[in-house]
Amino acid sequence: MFPCGFAWGAATAAYQIEGGWEADGKGASIWDTFCHEKGRVFGEHNGDIACNSYELWDRDLECIQQLGLTHYRLSLSWSRLLPDGTTEHVNQKGVQYYNKVIDDLLVCNVTPMVTLYHFDLPQALQDKGGWKSASVASLFDSYARFCFQTFGDRVKLWITINEPYVCAKLGHEDGIHAPGLKEPGTAAYLVGHNMLRAHAMAWHSYDSLYRPKQKGAVSLAINSDWVEPLHPGCPDHVAAAERLLAFSLGWFAWPVFVTGDYPEIMRSAIDAQSERLGHSGGSRLPSFSEDEPQVLGTADFFALNYYTSRKVKPGGGHGRTLCMKSDRDAEEVLDPSWPISGVSWLAVVPDGIRKLLNYIKDTCNNPAVYITENGFAQVGPLQIEDERRSVGEDKVNVRGYFAWSLLDNFEWADGTSVRFGLFHVDFSDTQRRRTVYRSGQEYAKMIQKYKSDQSR
Ligand code: GAL
Repeated sequence: MFPCGFAWGAATAAYQIEGGWEADGKGASIWDTFCHEKGRVFGEHNGDIACNSYELWDRDLECIQQLGLTHYRLSLSWSRLLPDGTTEHVNQKGVQYYNKVIDDLLVCNVTPMVTLYHFDLPQALQDKGGWKSASVASLFDSYARFCFQTFGDRVKLWITINEPYVCAKLGHEDGIHAPGLKEPGTAAYLVGHNMLRAHAMAWHSYDSLYRPKQKGAVSLAINSDWVEPLHPGCPDHVAAAERLLAFSLGWFAWPVFVTGDYPEIMRSAIDAQSERLGHSGGSRLPSFSEDEPQVLGTADFFALNYYTSRKVKPGGGHGRTLCMKSDRDAEEVLDPSWPISGVSWLAVVPDGIRKLLNYIKDTCNNPAVYITENGFAQVGPLQIEDERRSVGEDKVNVRGYFAWSLLDNFEWADGTSVRFGLFHVDFSDTQRRRTVYRSGQEYAKMIQKYKSDQSR
């Protein structure tokens, strides 16, 4: 049973839906730059227009109401609000846009959950070193304070940073997300560290300056697959699964919820590999400084993005190369019984989320949890009657659930070829017509049933 006050939501992110990439004084973000470089994104797609939510917000609001959502998770574009990333210059048009979105949601009785950072760093800050630079943390803190100050009278649920794992690894180790850096074995750990520092500073700012009056809650959204040993009876496989979980969930959850530091297995695996390869110059995994705001305890709830699961055995990296794969020495295997959704990485494993939630409960001091993303993709020929996507989104014993995503949108390196929406968006239509999928209708029915059970 879903508890009273359960949040029924859907999520989106600014770059994936807004478009208006240079409208009304918006500054460029690293995703604008990345997509405008040849060969980065499937089919040379980009988010210049995307779902055009910058102009068509009213349509999105209709979709939200049609589903009967109680909550809507959106992200703010940092460079729409602060074009050069600093509070020196505020773009009032950007402020007006988000004010309208937030006000409209509240008028319709929909609670906003607002993410400050969903992959789209202002390009001006990337030019100064981006997330690899230590100074980005205090710039993020200033941006966060600006947002708390400007919108916090109405927004009570905040996510500082979405999926630091994905930003760090895909953006700086693999180079397949913006800013497209391929610096394996070093940059991702540094970026992850600066993201944690930035998050912690923003949480402390909220806690001391805004919480007393605004009374909201702040967290960061951590993504993780559920992982299990391929052969549970084999100690090597069990150890590999533990390592993989430490390098995914643990990387960000341990500092914030458990110990204030990275998981010991993560550090020792990285340091052992450095030694093996003769890498000198100190640990590649940075340490938290006592002179900075403490990272432990900087989350008022656990925000979990869950999509899929993996079986694990040792291996997978190139033992002699400095990279995260060889550090973690864990090869991911798909169980052949798991159906695959539209994208190859997304095996459908609904009981994985239950196991992961139990693991979080047991290891992270039983926090309140919001599932801030969970979804299933479609590719290839369009099916509005998307039967395969209409199952599995049920019975999770947490505070709230946000389906990814309200709309088909710009799915990062896959462009618009991968569709995660509860509404289809016709990207060939200048009006970006939205059409509800069967999965959207099913979701609406579940929400409706919940609401009528509650009112009995
Ligand atoms: C997440 C990300 C979303 C969305 C989703 C589906 O990693 O936060 O923006 O793209 O994956 O791939």
